Amino acid sequence: MFRPISRSSCASVGRRFLATAQETPNRVHGGLQDKDRIFQNLYLKNSDRYHTSPSDLKAAMKIGDWYKTKEIILKGDKWIIDEMKKSGLRGRGGAGFPSGLKWSFMNPPGWEKNVGPRYVVVNADEGEPGTCKDREIIRKEPHKLVEGCLLAGRAMNATAAYIYVRGEFYNEAVILQEAINQAYAAGFLGKNACGSGYDFDVYIHRGMGAYVCGEETALIESLEGKQGKPRLKPPFPAGVGLFGRPSTVTNVETVAVSPTILRRGGSWFASFGRERNQGTKLYCISGNVNEPCTVEEEMSIPLRDLIDKHAGGVIGGWDNLQAIIPGGSSTPILTAADCDDMIMDYDSLRAAGSGFGTAAVNVFDKQHDVVVGIQRLLAFYKHESCGQCTPCREGSTYLAKMMDRLAVGQANEKEIDQALELTDKVCGHSICAMGEAFSWPYQGLVRKFKPLLLERIKDYKKEHGFTDGGLENGGWYEEIKVENGAVNGSPVPKDPFFH
Ligand SMILES: Cc1cc2nc3c(=O)[nH]c(=O)nc-3n(C[C@H](O)[C@H](O)[C@H](O)COP(=O)(O)O)c2cc1C
Ligand code: SF4
Repeated sequence: MFRPISRSSCASVGRRFLATAQETPNRVHGGLQDKDRIFQNLYLKNSDRYHTSPSDLKAAMKIGDWYKTKEIILKGDKWIIDEMKKSGLRGRGGAGFPSGLKWSFMNPPGWEKNVGPRYVVVNADEGEPGTCKDREIIRKEPHKLVEGCLLAGRAMNATAAYIYVRGEFYNEAVILQEAINQAYAAGFLGKNACGSGYDFDVYIHRGMGAYVCGEETALIESLEGKQGKPRLKPPFPAGVGLFGRPSTVTNVETVAVSPTILRRGGSWFASFGRERNQGTKLYCISGNVNEPCTVEEEMSIPLRDLIDKHAGGVIGGWDNLQAIIPGGSSTPILTAADCDDMIMDYDSLRAAGSGFGTAAVNVFDKQHDVVVGIQRLLAFYKHESCGQCTPCREGSTYLAKMMDRLAVGQANEKEIDQALELTDKVCGHSICAMGEAFSWPYQGLVRKFKPLLLERIKDYKKEHGFTDGGLENGGWYEEIKVENGAVNGSPVPKDPFFH
């Protein structure tokens, strides 16, 4: 999911983002060539589905996996982390935190004195609506992930990696386990991995399909056998993580691209995309496009090129575009006008008041109802709240119920802003970023489509004529009418604490 970097106030997101806007680049990005694709087997070109499984080690080695892995390990932790920093890679799990820097937190001065196991935890939970890249990596390129675990592990001086795979991904877990078994059989994992003198193990742990378990500390809790409920931070996992030991939770794509970065060099990766937005990226394009797909492209590619070249265009043509959710379901929605010149990267989407997130682009054409789309997402977030914090548990429930009415116009105009105020109170006041995850879609909807909401309420009133009775005050039935401090004419009993 897309996690906002600052959580102080969601409502000011648009304004805050404007401050970080970058100048329009001269170069048009995109058009990634096959030779520069990290994921060579995304469309199973290298492996015939029936004869050569993607977990087949020989097939993986043909496309460069496990090439000179020993040499990379022998270069040591500092070299690997410096190279990752040079690459400009930002975490592909949604928050976009610089990966080299994040990995370096595992090696503070004197880390060696804290003797015991240390872990890389790979986040393969991928539960966010619209995001469908990590499962593709595991299905088609599992060895990139397994090798990535070893190299990320070496960088962080970890002893083992746990890959937390979403429960529903049964086939993916089987493929991944096969790849791990083959890597062990070849001597690439385990004692003296790749003949480097470094010992490293990789384990799979299957989750149960709760979205919140993708949040890093909930994931750790779940791995430890507890309910997947996020922990308060600090302490951060690099200090106290899995089983109380230093750990780093990092996304599948982040880990899977690292072997190629280390083989081809950080500056090769950094040559793609704009400054601070470097590299290649897996984009997931879904919704009202002719050919939904997951594709690797250059960072900073124009949104329109991405959709037209790779997803067969918007159904009915670009002029039939109504809106886009650009970075996974929690990122605020944008209008067609916003999208005309939009560049797909962190800075450009922040400047537009949305976010790059996981680069999962969800397209709405003019025949689809954006209000119902957001209503559906809010029902999802309400269902997935773990319930630990009141603002998230109650706020997501209130908002989902309100959206059920608003989607048909059965609401009061003032409720739109009341709910907006509620989301502002939620953001920054919950243990994890789920508070933002369900607030942002609503805030985006109001920011961009308020006239549509007002029109819907007006139409509903016209059709149902409820000023004469029926539903009023945001869907309250007339039998519970509140007027002049009285409910249905009876004075409200005084609250002993507030009167
Ligand atoms: C509710 C919630 C769900 C999340 N789900 C995922 C997920 O499915 N996959 C993922 O990689 N990150 C997810 N994240 C982000 C992780 O907490 C974490 O930031 C990420 O795994 C770090 O990886 P990276 O540094 O490689 O980006 C989620 C965050 C929240 C708040
Ligand atoms: S914000 Fe929501 S999901 Fe996160 S810990 Fe609180 S209640 Fe649970």
